Amino acid sequence: MSQKPILTTTAGNPVADNQNSLSAGPRGPLLLQDYHLIEKLAHQNRERIPERVVHAKGWGAYGTLTITNDITRYSKASVFSEVGKKTQVLARFSTVAGELGAADAERDVRGFALKFYSEQGNWDVVGNNTPIFFIRDPLKFPDFIHTQKRHPKTNLRSNTAAWDFWSLSPESLHQVTILMSDRGLPTDVRHINGYGSHTYSFINAANQRFWVKFHFKTLQGHKHWTNDEAAAVVGRSRETTQEDLFYSIENGDFPKWRFCIQVMTEEQARNTRYNPFDLTKVWPHAEFPLIEVGIVELNRNPENYFAEIEQAAFSPSNVVPGIGHSPDKMLQARVFSYADAHRYRLGTHYEALPVNAPKCPVHHYHKDGAMRFFASSQNPDAYYEPNSFGGPAQSAEYAEPAVAIDGAADRYDHRDGNDDYSQPRALFGLFDEGQRQRLFANIAASMAGVPQFIIDRQLAHFDKVHPDYGNGVRAALADGN
Ligand code: NDP
Ligand code: HEM
Repeated sequence: MSQKPILTTTAGNPVADNQNSLSAGPRGPLLLQDYHLIEKLAHQNRERIPERVVHAKGWGAYGTLTITNDITRYSKASVFSEVGKKTQVLARFSTVAGELGAADAERDVRGFALKFYSEQGNWDVVGNNTPIFFIRDPLKFPDFIHTQKRHPKTNLRSNTAAWDFWSLSPESLHQVTILMSDRGLPTDVRHINGYGSHTYSFINAANQRFWVKFHFKTLQGHKHWTNDEAAAVVGRSRETTQEDLFYSIENGDFPKWRFCIQVMTEEQARNTRYNPFDLTKVWPHAEFPLIEVGIVELNRNPENYFAEIEQAAFSPSNVVPGIGHSPDKMLQARVFSYADAHRYRLGTHYEALPVNAPKCPVHHYHKDGAMRFFASSQNPDAYYEPNSFGGPAQSAEYAEPAVAIDGAADRYDHRDGNDDYSQPRALFGLFDEGQRQRLFANIAASMAGVPQFIIDRQLAHFDKVHPDYGNGVRAALADGN
């Protein structure tokens, strides 16, 4: 048998006894100088960090992006530099509303977050399995999330809050229709698509800008459960997605997604009949066809879930030269919100944790703070900027082309004149009769306990999408009564 390593305290002092506390006599009391006991109890008290305020329950793995098609005419990002180019990826999938211990098989949007460790820093795509979202103005995000979390008095999820908010926010119809359809309850995350959802920008070597949307199409096909199937599954195991992803990868069955983009020129963006920066809208494929970029494959499980998945910090603010943001108001709020959440949840130097640390040189002038464990990679005299000691300096070659903006600063009514019904109608048109019946039944089930005036307000929205939609839900509600 091989020699076991000697157990030590965190300071490296050998431990003589890890079974028995130090006591005065065999029956106690214990002695304060039993530092090993105190350290163990103290560490245990600090084993939890705040869970993510949303997307708390998650599953993750590492993998590779391999470029299969040349898109350098649109973006100079180093990840796309040549066909065959490989970039390491970290993926974290999640549900949105449930807490850290929530069951996996719940009807909810799935988070689809990817971190590409490029030579020019980390590029994060923090998307969902839906191409659109419930709201289009970030001022409504905390309100929306309150409706998905627990009621302050009952401490229970509230159907009334959810449908009250949705029925007062018609921009949610598109996403609500996906959520209540078959794809709202996937069996696991290998069988979902991922979408960057927002419009981002690409910038090419000639410094031309294009607007772009990101799509990750599952190569495993789509699989979902009905509500009844999911109820039975949760009775058997609350961790079905973790089991599926972990053991698929452990057994060498590596999930893959076809990474595609849609591209819109700045000129086209001025002429679409919808706002191309509105997160509640897709760009129809017939007008903006998918262009293949590469394949994302997940092929390695993390060694330590807490260190590598719980402490992973994804943020839409992480973009690289050749990829930028857009005027989407939701995206702009997210550029602030995520790093703010990480500083609170993980601490000031969260980007230096191994899972978050870029795999390229990092040079900045941020200084002290909790857990400053890494040394400066630069001359210690160059701790401010500008300096005369050869410290890191800006580089104008990375400047993005200017974005032309016009309009007076004001609080514009984002619901004014916005068509919230055509795209949900196009989606409804894709559903066959079986899918429609399940959509109606899922909606009716989720309306249990909701006051009639709220249901009526929502039915009026369904009617505007398509009379068959409203009437289908009415019939399903009558069936359930
Ligand atoms: P297309 O027929 O060209 O594309 C339909 C898209 O819908 C495909 O991407 C398909 O994904 C997806 N889809 C198919 N069935 C479902 C479902 N049950 N739930 C959610 N998505 C589904 O049409 P358009 O581009 O004109 O879009 C029509 C509608 O399709 C949109 O209003 C939108 O609701 C939905 N959609 C559109 C997307 C887009 O980017 N244009 C993306 C996703 C959905 P898959 O190939 O994986 O089956
Ligand atoms: C997680 C804010 C909209 C996808 C989070 C977190 C915050 C947040 C604070 C927790 C971050 C952490 O603690 O690590 C917001 C705000 C939004 C918004 C303010 C709108 C204004 C969206 C949208 C998408 C999205 C539109 C998808 C298109 C995700 C995902 C995660 C997440 C996938 C989990 C990331 C991970 O796996 O660590 N969001 N969010 N969010 N959000 Fe959002």
